[in-house]
Amino acid sequence: MKPTRELALFLLASVASISAFDCSVDALQEAIGSEGTVVLAQTVEQNGTFTVNTTSVTNLPALCAAEFNVSTSSVSSYLFGIFLPTDSWNGRFLAVGNGGYAGTISWASMGTGAAYGFAVVSTDTGHTASSTFGDTSWAAGNPEKITDWAYRALHGTVVNGKAISKAFYGEEHKYSYYRGCSTGGRQGLKEAQDFPDDFDGIVAGAPAWWTTHLQLWNLKTLLYNAPSTASYHIPTDLFDVIADEVLKQCDPQDGVTDTIISDSRACIFRPETLLCVSSNTTDCLTSPQLDTLYHIYNDWVENNQTFVFPHFELGTEQYWSSGIGDGSDDTLASQAGFVQDFLGLGDSWSPYNLDWDIVALSDKMNPGNATAGNFDLSPFYNKGGKLLHYHGMSDGSIATGSSLYYREHAYRNMTSQGITVDDFYRFFLVPGMGHCSDTPTNVNAPWYFAGSEQSVGSGTVSSVPGYEDAQHDVLLAMMAWVENGTAPEYIIATKYNNDTDPLGEGVYRQRPLCMYPKQAKYTGSGDVDTPESWECQSLY
Ligand SMILES: *[C@@H]1O[C@H](CO)[C@@H](O)[C@H](O)[C@H]1NC(C)=O
Ligand SMILES: *[C@@H]1O[C@H](CO)[C@@H](O)[C@H](O)[C@H]1NC(C)=O
Ligand SMILES: *[C@@H]1O[C@H](CO)[C@@H](O)[C@H](O)[C@H]1NC(C)=O
Ligand SMILES: *[C@@H]1O[C@H](CO)[C@@H](O)[C@H](O)[C@H]1NC(C)=O
Ligand SMILES: *[C@@H]1O[C@H](CO)[C@@H](O)[C@H](O)[C@H]1NC(C)=O
Ligand SMILES: *[C@@H]1O[C@H](CO)[C@@H](O)[C@H](O)[C@H]1NC(C)=O
Ligand SMILES: *[C@@H]1O[C@H](CO)[C@@H](O)[C@H](O)[C@H]1NC(C)=O
Ligand SMILES: *[C@@H]1O[C@H](CO)[C@@H](O)[C@H](O)[C@H]1NC(C)=O
Ligand SMILES: *[C@@H]1O[C@H](CO)[C@@H](O)[C@H](O)[C@H]1NC(C)=O
Repeated sequence: MKPTRELALFLLASVASISAFDCSVDALQEAIGSEGTVVLAQTVEQNGTFTVNTTSVTNLPALCAAEFNVSTSSVSSYLFGIFLPTDSWNGRFLAVGNGGYAGTISWASMGTGAAYGFAVVSTDTGHTASSTFGDTSWAAGNPEKITDWAYRALHGTVVNGKAISKAFYGEEHKYSYYRGCSTGGRQGLKEAQDFPDDFDGIVAGAPAWWTTHLQLWNLKTLLYNAPSTASYHIPTDLFDVIADEVLKQCDPQDGVTDTIISDSRACIFRPETLLCVSSNTTDCLTSPQLDTLYHIYNDWVENNQTFVFPHFELGTEQYWSSGIGDGSDDTLASQAGFVQDFLGLGDSWSPYNLDWDIVALSDKMNPGNATAGNFDLSPFYNKGGKLLHYHGMSDGSIATGSSLYYREHAYRNMTSQGITVDDFYRFFLVPGMGHCSDTPTNVNAPWYFAGSEQSVGSGTVSSVPGYEDAQHDVLLAMMAWVENGTAPEYIIATKYNNDTDPLGEGVYRQRPLCMYPKQAKYTGSGDVDTPESWECQSLY
């Protein structure tokens, strides 16, 4: 490491002019000092492409791209990437989250962040994985790596990334933001809970916050439909049949028949209408299969009335091929990794042995402290932080109810401390949106608001094409809240006619997503596909 005086002189020099800091390995190494090692440095031209291994991100603004390796213990380290826009820096810092068990840097999400002008960082969370979802082998016998995945790599990335940004631009960022969904949503809540000074604004989608229970519930829901030879097994072909019946019954109950179930929890659904009345079971369910449906739509409650996890919503059926699955051993094995590798029961543990003892063990171990289960966000509130949390109501990976559960407990905790929770933490349900993005094909609900893991167009497209403003773009909404005090009452979500060609083929429909517990209600006149025909109303 260079002597401190030399480093100080170097930093002074870079204050004078951005060009004093080139995008070289030496300069970047100087910036991170003894905290880490530069793995790569790449200058990207305006509208250029960043390429690393098999990943490439296109249509980027001119920027300096770099990757660093940071050690966290004698047996663990993480990689993180940074994009530093050269001509278009907006003076702000952004960290983006990961999906599943991670194992890669989120370069594409960094690209959309850089397109706004942010200096952006992302980490691989401390391991390289062949698959973001199935692969947990890296965790076996490696508690240090689990801790990196749980929170340590992201927090370190934020601290190091801010220092590098400051060295590069010669000045501190003015505001600091976070955007993540799924695991990224959990990472956002964890940051708000444990490192309240890291961000001014956190956008957290569909958070996988309850790691100790969620990872087991992801196996539990597969077990509802296994083995495939059981009389109660529902073949995957029937998921669309159920989806159509749910939509048929629930859509009109919100007052407007428009293929969108506005409030799945208010729908009175009669599954018995799906009962087979002849021996032909191609497009109907038998009585034992209807019992499986009952499990799917109800909370997981263990003995002693212990609530373990909420249920899939009505309207999630088109996504059940992953969430409910085909009952095969391979499918069950795909969700056994948490018990085998994080809880340490090993590869011989059979998914069929999931029981209350496993839940108790998971609670006791809380591997890596990954669960973002602290409902007291008052330190984040006290420093002026803002949290925007959302969850799709057709999420077929993480029960929407788990977000409601977090929100409700956080509300209770902080209301009892005299905090007006909506002043800094607002929650939005997204009718008809799947896990972080998209919508079932029989629904076509507006789901796009430039959230994490959402993309339209081809190449790097940031914001909401045609509607680049704080009403339609969740990150711009967060910026307006943090920087101008304009708190979002609603976000207008967009469904394009063709997601690949948003500007060319135009908008199919838009609708406001209302701040919970308000809901969008049709005003009674006007096109149901335009946002002006809807208003956010309190139901009670
Ligand atoms: C950006 O580059 C792509 C090719 O990668 C090209 O098709 C497009 O026209 C370029 N856009 C601008 C604005 O230069
Ligand atoms: C590219 O992939 C190889 C193999 O996974 C890995 O060892 C290397 O670190 C990667 N390079 C970068 C810059 O991430
Ligand atoms: C990062 O550094 C650690 C040592 O701290 C080393 O074991 C690991 O292989 C390095 N990773 C990469 C991708 O260079
Ligand atoms: C069973 O019902 C389906 C759908 O109604 C129909 O397409 C199919 O031909 C029927 N099969 C038999 C064996 O009747
Ligand atoms: C309920 O909890 C008690 C105390 O932990 C335990 O002794 C008992 O076995 C539990 N009941 C069941 C059905 O597991
Ligand atoms: C988890 O948190 C507890 C309580 O704050 C702490 O004692 C423990 O060391 C933490 N474990 C890890 C792996 O971070
Ligand atoms: C709020 O959460 C904190 C931290 O978990 C806990 O210590 C406290 O008892 C909770 N307060 C209420 C009123 O629930
Ligand atoms: C804050 O308000 C000003 C004045 O309306 C506007 O120009 C600016 O873009 C706003 N900033 C953000 C981050 O929304
Ligand atoms: C959507 O737009 C893309 C890009 O222009 C085009 O290739 C594709 O055919 C369009 N899809 C449909 C269904 O029209």
